[in-house]
Amino acid sequence: MIRSVVRGYGAALPKRVVPNRELEGIVETSDEWIVQRTGIRQRYIAGEGETTASLGEAAARQALDRAGLTPDDIDFILVATSTPDNTFPATAVNIQKRLGMTHGFAFDLQAVCSGFVYAMATADMYIRGGMAKRVLVIGAETFSRILDWKDRTTCVLFGDGAGALVLEAAEGEGTVADRGVLTAHLRSDGSHKEKLYVDGGPSTTGTVGHLRMEGREVFKHAVGMITDVIEAAFESTGTTADDLDWLVPHQANRRIIEGSAKKLSIPNEKVVVTVDLHGNTSAASIPLALSVALDDGRIKQGDLVMLEAMGGGFTWGALLVRW
Ligand code: ACO
Repeated sequence: MIRSVVRGYGAALPKRVVPNRELEGIVETSDEWIVQRTGIRQRYIAGEGETTASLGEAAARQALDRAGLTPDDIDFILVATSTPDNTFPATAVNIQKRLGMTHGFAFDLQAVCSGFVYAMATADMYIRGGMAKRVLVIGAETFSRILDWKDRTTCVLFGDGAGALVLEAAEGEGTVADRGVLTAHLRSDGSHKEKLYVDGGPSTTGTVGHLRMEGREVFKHAVGMITDVIEAAFESTGTTADDLDWLVPHQANRRIIEGSAKKLSIPNEKVVVTVDLHGNTSAASIPLALSVALDDGRIKQGDLVMLEAMGGGFTWGALLVRW
């Protein structure tokens, strides 16, 4: 059977690093509060000329280089983002242009913080359905541009960045020993909208709007939702937490990550945590975390890696991949 195998990875961050201390001058907060409640120590904030598409392009170029491929080899670009450069055309098409591609197709996918898991699952279906052989899957965000910088309960949590993977069709045996995406489980429940949303949009206010969140409510649902989809991924593949080499979660909050891992009996040593470095970069957080763990040699070819995320919608999902 056809599997979607990871051939390359890339990451891009804005130039400017903003440590917690710098936020103390913007809102009434403290480094101690932020670190204790979230694990975040710093985030990157996009400056002039840095956009979701420019960061996504840089991550994509790195992923292509590592895969030994060029844009000519790609037939589908999928960008997970909630902070597009323009309402339309899609950021994916913008990146396609930046890469000098005029063939193939490109579109955006919007599932907020779960965007990268949704995008990987979608790319896998296009590959296994025969519509694409090589896909650039990109998670790219500039959440700093939809934050209310007067609201301390949200503005300290998020950051900007992008990450990308190249997925390629390859023959597999149909077992969990295969390289590539092994299973994906997606969920959403729109009745939770008010807990995490942006209070604007083209069809309502005609403005971009700002992120609004009931943090405690999000926290209350997160661990249960995350562990449910991860258990579904284990069950459908006949694997268990013991088989897992790495859990690479969406990086929103250290307490959510550790709470989920504990409930699943996954030891902290197997969990990739980069929320301290990047803050919550929404759809970019998983590929950014992957890139750190691949750069430092933790994730190796053949490793069994669980990706998971939960975010606005609510949306949530898990995807098991053999690297
Ligand atoms: N600095 C200092 N004090 C603050 C700050 C801040 N930045 N923000 C809030 N406070 C204060 C509050 O005003 C409150 O004060 P009060 O007791 O005088 O009213 C106090 O800190 C406690 O506030 P809580 O909201 O109860 O704090 P909590 O422990 O729940 O932590 C947090 C808040 C970090 C947002 C937590 O609820 C959380 O992590 N929730 C998950 C939300 C999340 O990660 N969302 C990301 C998007 S969704 C996703 O990606 C999964």
